[in-house]
Amino acid sequence: MSQKATNLRINAERLWETIMETAQIGATAKGGVRRLTLSDLDRRVRDWFVDACKKAGCSITVDDMGNIFARRAGKNPNLAPIAVGSHLDTQPSGGKFDGIIGVLSGLELLRTLNEAGIETEAPIEVIDWTNEEGSRFAPAMLASGVFAGKFSREYAYARADRDGKSFGEELERIGYRGEAPCGAHPLSAFFELHIEQGPILEAEGKVIGVVTDVQGMRWYEVTVEGEDCHAGTTPMPMRKDALLASARMITAINAVGRRHAPHAVTTVGLIEAQPNSRNVIPGKTFFTIDIRHPHDAVLATMEDEITRELEAIAAACGVSLALERVWNSPPVPFAKECVDAVREAARDLGLPSREIISGAGHDAAYVAAVAPTAMIFVPCERGISHNELEKAEPEHVAAGADVLLRAVLATDARLAEGVRA
Ligand code: GLV
Ligand code: MN
Ligand code: MN
Repeated sequence: MSQKATNLRINAERLWETIMETAQIGATAKGGVRRLTLSDLDRRVRDWFVDACKKAGCSITVDDMGNIFARRAGKNPNLAPIAVGSHLDTQPSGGKFDGIIGVLSGLELLRTLNEAGIETEAPIEVIDWTNEEGSRFAPAMLASGVFAGKFSREYAYARADRDGKSFGEELERIGYRGEAPCGAHPLSAFFELHIEQGPILEAEGKVIGVVTDVQGMRWYEVTVEGEDCHAGTTPMPMRKDALLASARMITAINAVGRRHAPHAVTTVGLIEAQPNSRNVIPGKTFFTIDIRHPHDAVLATMEDEITRELEAIAAACGVSLALERVWNSPPVPFAKECVDAVREAARDLGLPSREIISGAGHDAAYVAAVAPTAMIFVPCERGISHNELEKAEPEHVAAGADVLLRAVLATDARLAEGVRA
């Protein structure tokens, strides 16, 4: 790396102001952001991002999954770009940082390179991946999954939200169904900066998480059917109460997570009961299950246990059960050269760091299947995330962006050496 590149730092104040500016798009009363994927607010933040990247001199490509690629040209157009990025969609009660710092630190990186007049060997791209959250359209990381060949475009377009609107229609409606075929887009490397979304870095006083792996995760959809009946006239032993059966199932799912401590986690985060009337015994429920663990074999055991226990509860409660696995994202190890680039960047910048496995899903997990990839974590207060109160310190976000910049420039120097060799 040149001396100029070695001394280069991002503009921390400008990055923070940019994060606060986009946080206005979908701002919530408690200081968070509600910007569901492919909503009008998602369109607004995308328009903002495209405009900002154009002002930074980038060319823009949108693929047919709505992924946005903002490219700053390099000296060597034959090299595939080094990419950075994350997502601008949020949870229904999301924060200002999840995903967002990964995209906006990419924009800041471009602005920093422009100001310093640094020409990289490879092009640099900043990517906004569509539907990382998976809250509106399951599964999560849908568009990076198509990019990596894990899902077909047709499968993605057919995903429907709880109101029955499809991903394909909504993508078209907001005007972000691009021409470029998703996936036909080689990358030399991909780096994603993200808040940790957990408490480890803060507890240990570390500023940088050098992410080595992403744990495995599986999602399920469950429908339980009993019988609607009068709440005042149906004796307790004669009821087929789908909600009561579901409550028992939720307790059993929680117990499976606890049984496989300390690494397993199990969550039921969405439940709908029908007819949802206070004096009707609920005849039908729909709920979701999210299970995670760093090892696939343990996930398989957890899945078997959940299946067996839910079947037994359904039989005991006289209700029927339909349990469908809708997503399986296996554990992902990141590429050694990219993890090393992150570790060395943190060390060179004198930032306290530790290796960490991601408990959350990230687009980087799918991109890793098609390009050398790694992630950088920075702390967030009390590990609180997927919450309007999500909070990160400006100096930690800036430190993460500096590590990102340095990892990208070191990767570029390595590619340049490869070209010369
Ligand atoms: C993505 O936000 C996840 O569920 O980990
Ligand atoms: Mn995220
Ligand atoms: Mn998230």
